[in-house]
Amino acid sequence: MADNEGNIDAKKIGIGTPQKQDGFFLKGNEHACYGIKARLSQVFNEKSGRTVMLAFDHGFIMGPTSGLERIDLTINPLIQYSDCIMCTRGILRSVVPPTCNKPLSLRFDAGSTILTSLNDETLGDIEDAIRVNAALLAVMVAIGDPDHEGLTIANLTKTVDMGMRYGIPTLGVTAVGKGLNRDARYLGLATRVCAENGANVVKTYYCDEDFENVTNACPVPIVVAGGKKLPERDALALAYNAVTQGACGVDMGRNIFQSDSPVGMLLAVREVVHNNATVDQAFDCYETYKAENK
Ligand code: R5P
Repeated sequence: MADNEGNIDAKKIGIGTPQKQDGFFLKGNEHACYGIKARLSQVFNEKSGRTVMLAFDHGFIMGPTSGLERIDLTINPLIQYSDCIMCTRGILRSVVPPTCNKPLSLRFDAGSTILTSLNDETLGDIEDAIRVNAALLAVMVAIGDPDHEGLTIANLTKTVDMGMRYGIPTLGVTAVGKGLNRDARYLGLATRVCAENGANVVKTYYCDEDFENVTNACPVPIVVAGGKKLPERDALALAYNAVTQGACGVDMGRNIFQSDSPVGMLLAVREVVHNNATVDQAFDCYETYKAENK
């Protein structure tokens, strides 16, 4: 039976208090739809505004690269310490436990491998991305590659269109074109082109000079890849320099899973990204974990 008196009281609640209008914490996504913001909020921590994405999608172009031969043994134990996982649908379905409960940055493109010409890519199926509950659609954009620049930019725009239809944000992944340096001028151009074509987030590389110009001129959040394995302190310095110069976190793979203490590295990177730890503090975190977990 309807509770008329209760309803009358309820109508009075909040009179004189304007409904709170929240802004959105990630730059460039204020005007995105609810689904896109909700999924970005799964990937990025609202408090720090940053993310630690664990990337293990390398096999789609490299095969079983070092550290990824047995993802069940090397990567699954790390997932709990990440904010988001980045992988292909094949590895997701065959190896990653559906109970892992982490947002998924799904590798949404597929194509040529390191054995031929990289970046000759096609796209996945948006229905399958929905089926596996993707929180981000990751697509490579090969700016400066004379053979694949147009194709990969078209792939990005198609992905953005498909994603917007279902409220799934797109991660533009900048590849490095042949003969082009990873300097601020190139990275600034590549990241901006991704954003201009609708990417909600852009993944790129850190550069030692003027990286702040890259993050500043990109209207959406940038996350940095780690690249080839570095000594642990150098990889932590890379993460530190990137976030203190405006990156909203990392999308890191080899510098974590090829480390002699992958959990220690992941925890140390988290300290940098979410707790503004210095390089010394983060390195200490890595060494302590490693020493205590031999
Ligand atoms: C490369 O195939 C992928 O895009 C990786 O996800 C990306 O490069 C990040 O991994 P890493 O930190 O190993 O560079």
